[in-house]
Amino acid sequence: MSADMRSFFGRPIIIGGGVAGLMTALHLAPEPVLLLSRTLLGADASSTWAQGGLAAGLGDDDNPALHLADTLAAGDGLCDKDVASRILQAAPKAIAGLSRFGIPFDRTPQGSLCLGLEAAHSRRRIVHAQGDGTGREIMRALIAAVRSTPSIVVVEGVEARRLAVRQNAIRGVWASCSIGPVFFGSQRVVLATGGIGGLFFDTTNPSGSCGQGLALAARAGAFLADLEFIQFHPTALDGPERPMALVSEAVRGEGAALIDETGQAFLQGIPRAELAPRDVLARAVWNHLASGHRVFLDARQRPGREFARHFPTIASACRGAGIDPARDLIPIRPAQHYHMGGVDVDGAGRTSVKGLWACGEVASTGLHGANRLASNSLTEAVVCARWVAESVAGTPARRTRPAFAGEYPSPDPAPVRPFLSRALGIVRDGEALKAVARSLLPLAESEDAASDPAAVGLMIAIAALQRQESRGAHYREDFPHRAAIARRSEITLEAALAAARELGHSPTLEVVM
Ligand code: SIN
Repeated sequence: MSADMRSFFGRPIIIGGGVAGLMTALHLAPEPVLLLSRTLLGADASSTWAQGGLAAGLGDDDNPALHLADTLAAGDGLCDKDVASRILQAAPKAIAGLSRFGIPFDRTPQGSLCLGLEAAHSRRRIVHAQGDGTGREIMRALIAAVRSTPSIVVVEGVEARRLAVRQNAIRGVWASCSIGPVFFGSQRVVLATGGIGGLFFDTTNPSGSCGQGLALAARAGAFLADLEFIQFHPTALDGPERPMALVSEAVRGEGAALIDETGQAFLQGIPRAELAPRDVLARAVWNHLASGHRVFLDARQRPGREFARHFPTIASACRGAGIDPARDLIPIRPAQHYHMGGVDVDGAGRTSVKGLWACGEVASTGLHGANRLASNSLTEAVVCARWVAESVAGTPARRTRPAFAGEYPSPDPAPVRPFLSRALGIVRDGEALKAVARSLLPLAESEDAASDPAAVGLMIAIAALQRQESRGAHYREDFPHRAAIARRSEITLEAALAAARELGHSPTLEVVM
């Protein structure tokens, strides 16, 4: 431990450099903070890849109450209405506040914000920057702001491996960097580590996003909520590339249609068709593929020749696959995209462990319910980062003593991916969930590099097994109906391990690699 590191002791530590982490650090300024990032800032953040934008009830025909109604409808009875209302009320002002960072939001010739349409929104309310480059543009501006804020010390190339906890209170972070293990003492830690896409073969997330924040929180004893709700995006570009390129919902918002190889518009009968909620559409595409069809997005008429101007990022991904969306059909299939579940937090982002906050995708605020409404997540991150920062700033800083660094391997999700891809996809059933929990148990209990990803997968499998209904993104073939009463779920690692042990030892899940 160098003297330099010791001088940082006591500062709030933010783990993760996506929109949630950067905004929390910026809101905390001028209080000195430490921001830990595994890579060069922004290089492995899903925020950078976000094509959809920020949803807010900003239009002349819109307001936060209408936005709330759409959010609750998409969330399929599981949203926390009070939390959702508070976040969506705060959204227009939070987006206006982003302007100070110089983000080039798309505007009309008259200077007002262009508002896009995405699935399950009843109004045009999505704010974009550079078309489908929203995440990249926001990150570019926020990273510049962070780098020029003297109170924020960014430590890149450092991976948080464990939280130090005594009597259910945070004492610091054990991390790993190129010179070996290192301990950062602090009684205030914010998790902003993103999602879990790296636990699946088919994902639109960076493959390094494999639930590290969930593992850190769970091993610290925190409660996690609604883990079984995983969102699959209906339209990822179907090809050999992994992670998969996203074909934004905004393309359907501009009129593109879903058809199969026979030219049939197979969504007939589904209310709102291409603009149905994401869970409904992902299942429809999945079922059509499962019955032997191929599925395509037809953007040849609309947006047609405007495609590349509106969607330069997607056009470039399509070009890489030899597809011109103005002339060719775009082959698509569903892919893991977002995690509605996460570390259970209150309205200020506080977890059940004292001194531990969570913000962004790693957190479960209750906004998204069983199925997130498109573009509500960047909005949530931007709004909640302020509340988290206020709560952190209002918690007294105390110095903590240095501790010996623990040695924990870098998480390797590869052995876990086949299990989650097979049993925790769009369609689930109890026997496969039990088998996957049995298979993951020994790995989760081991000291192996796959132990943390396996622990996360195990908690998700147990939460999915315990939810004996179908709701939102969680579809059980053996329980195809919604329960009469909607209940959010809560789990700890200890409870998940105990539940998996009770399942006994066989059979385990056979997976084809
Ligand atoms: C999309 O552009 O389709 C994704 C937007 C989102 O996930 O919120």
